[in-house]
Amino acid sequence: MYRSRTCGELRLEHAGEEVTLAGWVQRSRKMGGMTFIDLRDRYGITQLVFDESSDAELCGRANKLGREFVIQIVGTVNERYAKNDKMPTGEIEIIVKKLNILNASEVPPFTIEEDTDGGDDLRMKYRYLDIRRANVRANLELRHKFCLAVRHYLDEKGFMEIETPVLVGSTPEGARDFIVPSRMNPGQFYALPQSPQTLKQLLMVAGTDRYFQIVKCFRDEDLRADRQPEFTQIDCEMSFVEQDDILKLFEGMTKYLFKEVRGYDLGEAPFLRLPWSEAMRRFGSDKPDMRFGMEFVELMDILKGTGDFAVFNDAAYIGGICAEGCASYTRKQIDQLTDFVKSPQIGAKGLVYARIQEDGTVKSSVDKFYSPETLTAMAEKMNAKPGDLILIISGPDMMKARKQLCELRLEMGQRLGLRDKNKFALLWVVDFPMFEWSEEEGRLMAMHHPFTSPKPSDIAKLDTDPANVLADAYDMVCNGIEVGGGSIRIHDAVLQAKIFNVLGFTPERAQEQFGFLMNAFKYGAPPHGGLAYGLDRWVSLFAGLDSIRDCIAFPKNNSGRDVMLDAPSCVDPKQLDELYLDIKPTDK
Ligand code: AMO
Repeated sequence: MYRSRTCGELRLEHAGEEVTLAGWVQRSRKMGGMTFIDLRDRYGITQLVFDESSDAELCGRANKLGREFVIQIVGTVNERYAKNDKMPTGEIEIIVKKLNILNASEVPPFTIEEDTDGGDDLRMKYRYLDIRRANVRANLELRHKFCLAVRHYLDEKGFMEIETPVLVGSTPEGARDFIVPSRMNPGQFYALPQSPQTLKQLLMVAGTDRYFQIVKCFRDEDLRADRQPEFTQIDCEMSFVEQDDILKLFEGMTKYLFKEVRGYDLGEAPFLRLPWSEAMRRFGSDKPDMRFGMEFVELMDILKGTGDFAVFNDAAYIGGICAEGCASYTRKQIDQLTDFVKSPQIGAKGLVYARIQEDGTVKSSVDKFYSPETLTAMAEKMNAKPGDLILIISGPDMMKARKQLCELRLEMGQRLGLRDKNKFALLWVVDFPMFEWSEEEGRLMAMHHPFTSPKPSDIAKLDTDPANVLADAYDMVCNGIEVGGGSIRIHDAVLQAKIFNVLGFTPERAQEQFGFLMNAFKYGAPPHGGLAYGLDRWVSLFAGLDSIRDCIAFPKNNSGRDVMLDAPSCVDPKQLDELYLDIKPTDK
């Protein structure tokens, strides 16, 4: 027997008990003739005491233990003289009788404590040491609890977890695929699934009715704090449902998860359902952070053509936000905000500001171009009060200018402490456009994916005005993060073929790429729809993390590398030969 107890469970009531513990040496302190060691395992830390006066040989061995040695001890639980109320086991210590070294350790490259001295790269390289830290381990535990709660909820609602293959075919729409060469089929490739989208739809044709899967998805796209090349979805699909059925069921699941896993009550009220066009108009984003207001106010009617300011006169969009109580911002603070919006990532040409003074008059950076009456009308439209600061962005491209103003709003929210990680604001964004124009491809692309159903009332517009067709698609948004998305699907082969046609596929190419799905639709496909949640995003939101990396056991870094495994890496030329592959020379 390696242990009778764990390092997290002993309390005062266990005083006098003889225990065997096993774990890692976290820290060691020598005080006079006493040696104190913090012994750590997954469950906590327990203090060990070695007393030179009662066993000099044992104490001598304890003094030689290095950090992260793996040891086993036998000893007696004793009430501590100096209690530590910050530790759950802080009222007791173990007077050690026997010490057995199970394994030595080299000095770890960083301290294995909550506040570590290890930088990101080092911690990722030695991730197995990083996970020994209580806060990292807590994120994995939270992830585990989250998955259990999801399975429990969905099982109760009649969902069946079904695994779908990881070696699938490449599909042209969406992000870039990761591909895998097939040795048995020279020159041919599998792709790793970006999501099990078509497979779950085939499961509906197969009559499984309610499917879910906690599933790995793979996308070869540029990384950000909330994106990994391999990530996990909670993927769900249901038959014989309308959009409202799906939104209600998953709203229920979300409330359940918040309560069970996060201990947070989202209340009884249904989530707001915000049409996409309204989200763009009011917040410049399809994933607005609703923890705070500071909504956009469009100022074209007041500021375009009413003064000598060419920038506004040439603009396709002028919009402002009102930062309450910020009129006292210094020149330096305003300069910082201007630099922020002009940074290459945001790309605005400049920032116009207006302070509302105590007497109600407006003092702005465009005073010389506008009459005081115009500026007062602007402040009134913005609902600004004395002491407020108005920030205005404009541009020749409405979508771009709104996006820039959105970034500024988020930055101001951050500066004003309005983006509290312990507060959660959830909503559905609905009524997405079916298509968006891709400059790169020079054609319409599906905004969600090509299997999304247009709104029935908009089907007639597919031929005449496809750019204005709305989809039965929805995203769930929490604190400005898209945590999930889905749609009602097309279940009719003719309508599906029409959508491929609008997307620029010839009938032959559509058949070649998606024939398996369209053929299945000929055999009695039920009406169906569903959604997928991003598990990593949920867990990082629940844990208050800045990046989803921290809730993934072995994540990739920003260049898509696993620095611990040193992957990706070159392969043996023999392996390439077997696959009939040659590597082209590259200077990368
Ligand atoms: P979508 O592409 O919107 O939809 O993905 C669903 C959810 O998955 C999460 N997500 C990611 N998380 C981490 N890293 C990534 N690279 C990443 N990409 C997406 C997001 C997102 O909301 N098959 C459809 C769903 C459906 O229609 O049912 C799909 O994959 O939280």
